[in-house]
Amino acid sequence: MEQIKKLEKLPPKREKVETLSILRQISGSASALGELKGVAKTIPNQAMLINAVVLQEAKDSSEIENIITTRDELYRALTTAGKQPVQVKEVINYRKAIFTGFEIIKKQGFLRVSDIETIQKTIIENNAGIRNMSGTVLKNDRTGKTVYTPPQEKSEILDLLGNFLEYFNLNQMDLHPLINLAILHYQFESIHPFYDGNGRTGRILNILYLLINNLLDIPILYLSSYINKNKSDYYKLLNKVNNTDDWEEYILYILKAIEETSLKTIDKINNIKELLEKAIEKAKARAPKIYRKELIELLFEQPYSKIDFVVKRLNVERKAASRYLKKFEEIELLKSTKIGRETIYINEDLIEILKKY
Ligand SMILES: Nc1ncnc2c1ncn2[C@@H]1O[C@H](COP(=O)(O)OP(=O)(O)OP(=O)(O)O)[C@@H](O)[C@H]1O
Ligand SMILES: [Mg+2]
Repeated sequence: MEQIKKLEKLPPKREKVETLSILRQISGSASALGELKGVAKTIPNQAMLINAVVLQEAKDSSEIENIITTRDELYRALTTAGKQPVQVKEVINYRKAIFTGFEIIKKQGFLRVSDIETIQKTIIENNAGIRNMSGTVLKNDRTGKTVYTPPQEKSEILDLLGNFLEYFNLNQMDLHPLINLAILHYQFESIHPFYDGNGRTGRILNILYLLINNLLDIPILYLSSYINKNKSDYYKLLNKVNNTDDWEEYILYILKAIEETSLKTIDKINNIKELLEKAIEKAKARAPKIYRKELIELLFEQPYSKIDFVVKRLNVERKAASRYLKKFEEIELLKSTKIGRETIYINEDLIEILKKY
């Protein structure tokens, strides 16, 4: 489909984004998300939960399939010393960008253009910033044909970003926030302000939007996995909005992604919570002398752990740290493996849960 219209500023026409089927889908999406917000609160250590979910998202959102094929490889690379392959670096940067965005929102509660630049720079690790040379077009991967030409002039990009932020920071149209989120995601991707990293930056903006609007307290809902699984529809529907003013199917796609992902995440959290409680009970019963809550929490924050981590977290000698880990292996809470000269202790039950989703 050839592009026939130029990107318009927000807002779209209300009747195009508040159709009957959209309003019908909203209740399922909003209630699943509300339930997720509640379930997350019941986890005692929020850092633990955020870590597990954010690493998963960083992996899903980054293009690492070619080299880092399994979660296991990723965790090994993150845990062992030495030079990391560029794909691992990418995951680490993406994770850092999520936390950077989270901090900005906690501090100021809204976003500026410079904040979006900070997030993108963290992902991409260069200073190119907002596009100031023309030539960027979006192509169909398969056919190589140009499907969409974003605004080319920097002044126009900045103008559109200003308009975007007005609706991001304040729900000017008084739409349901989840409808607004879908619209904002389309708009950001279509402005396509950077040479690269627009998809990843836009996916981080989605979670920040949920936080600003108190739809979640912590950053734990990510659509990358859903988008990866339904990628051709995602592209097709963005394209449909580029070319028509028919928003319905695209908005429904995002709303369904929110519903399905929320339900999955709830299930995942419940599983993690149950495992954590069991681990605490087991350690208390079978290793009462060394049981420390922080130690268990560490093993859930870092499912691939090692002596150094324990030394730092618990402020103990290497010998003690090593003894703790060995004891935990003995009571089958951890399993050790050698990588090079290092011994890594793996929380295998947790890895099993993370793998399932
Ligand atoms: N027709 C389109 N209209 C608007 N945006 C589009 C269209 N096709 C693709 N996009 C957006 O462009 C993004 C890719 O842009 P870019 O390569 O700059 O981001 P990335 O983060 O490097 O890649 P990716 O999103 O694939 O991980 C896609 O994720 C999608 O959101
Ligand atoms: Mg790219």
